[in-house]
Amino acid sequence: MGKSLIIYFSRADENYSVGWIDKGNTEIVAEFVQELTGADMFKVEPAVPYAADYNTCIKEAKQRVGNAPIKEKLKDISTYDTIFVMSPIYWGTYAPEVETALEGLDFSGKAVRIICTHEGSGLSGMPRDVKRMCAGADVDMSGLAIVGSQAKNSKLKVSEWL
Ligand SMILES: Cc1cc2nc3c(=O)[nH]c(=O)nc-3n(C[C@H](O)[C@H](O)[C@H](O)COP(=O)(O)O)c2cc1C
Repeated sequence: MGKSLIIYFSRADENYSVGWIDKGNTEIVAEFVQELTGADMFKVEPAVPYAADYNTCIKEAKQRVGNAPIKEKLKDISTYDTIFVMSPIYWGTYAPEVETALEGLDFSGKAVRIICTHEGSGLSGMPRDVKRMCAGADVDMSGLAIVGSQAKNSKLKVSEWL
């Protein structure tokens, strides 16, 4: 697989089905991918954190589509062969901050693999949007969808998919 990088977004605090959590569901799964592949990790962090309560957060996420500044942007992914793009599903696709993180990077010749956590809608539009943002990459459109509340128990599923 060569050298790999995990670009992921995840939010702790009040969650849809698992209550208040210290570590987001996607981050739990991202750590499994890291353990199993030895990949480097890059956490996408919003410039302004989301509200801790779920209902405010879902409204904020809708407003951020197309305008989601992040704390730090990756500049160069040239040393990686495989990029894992990981996100919770927000309103039918990846979190808006993921789009900001992918914008402007040179994906030509890279293998891109997609993992989401969700609470019912599966990968939804995420493969389509990752493909749109990763021009020139070989994007595996099949992806892996993990139910958020099952994140802790997903290591075997992740290892089989890898
Ligand atoms: C703003 C927001 C929007 C969401 N939209 C969806 C959705 O469209 N479909 C779905 O299945 N789950 C949706 N969810 C549930 C999350 O995808 C799910 O809880 C996920 O595991 C959260 O990952 P995290 O803990 O890594 O942030 C949404 C959650 C939030 C906070």
